[in-house]
Amino acid sequence: MHISIITLFPEMFSGAFDASIVKRAKEKGKLHIHLVNLRKFASDTYGTVDDHPYGGGTGMVLRVDVIDRALKHTRTLIKEGTPRVILMTPQGETYTQKKARQLSTADHLILLCGHYEGVDERVRALVDEEISIGDYVLTGGEIPAMVLTDSIARLLPDVLVKADATTNESFEQSMLEYPHYTRPEIYGDARVPAVLLSGNHKNITKWRQEQALEKTRKRRPDLLLREKKDLA
Ligand code: ADE
Repeated sequence: MHISIITLFPEMFSGAFDASIVKRAKEKGKLHIHLVNLRKFASDTYGTVDDHPYGGGTGMVLRVDVIDRALKHTRTLIKEGTPRVILMTPQGETYTQKKARQLSTADHLILLCGHYEGVDERVRALVDEEISIGDYVLTGGEIPAMVLTDSIARLLPDVLVKADATTNESFEQSMLEYPHYTRPEIYGDARVPAVLLSGNHKNITKWRQEQALEKTRKRRPDLLLREKKDLA
């Protein structure tokens, strides 16, 4: 898969993409990341990408013509498949694990990072969808683009070591994950639950299902309601 990121701050991505799973996905040739510097598509020699809002007000707005040129260029970077263009914005649809799964099957994702007060409203007609990573405002779309890339990279085939490593975890079954334990068996007065030491796999599976359900009921009952609605 290819992920292109259009940004004014390509330097923000080194570090985040050079460690752990994203690094492994790149090294295995499963993920190719292309950083596209929006400033290169400025209409003047000063590299101007933004302007004052019509009607007045504070802050600057990213220009539609600059973004359009950057998008046209980025669409041609990869020949296979049709690119899917996503604007990172707090006004978008809230990101979920289900969305990560959907996006992980694309050939080429183009993530457009907004900045300043936002983008010219006409940019919305140039993208396929808008995604928010939560109800809070960041200074730009770079961290949200990292979040999408990380969550997608670990879902790509042959990136995680164990094939089922992603199917049991939190949110995949609309539930939080069951509790995990490792050595030591006793830490202070906290013991590993006896069932996990029993070697009885049927009982262990049952216990884990009950624990996951109980944890979800207590902490995130909304997930269970959402699941019911999806099934209805
Ligand atoms: N840009 C600024 N805040 C954001 C958010 N919460 N999600 C996506 N893009 C953003």
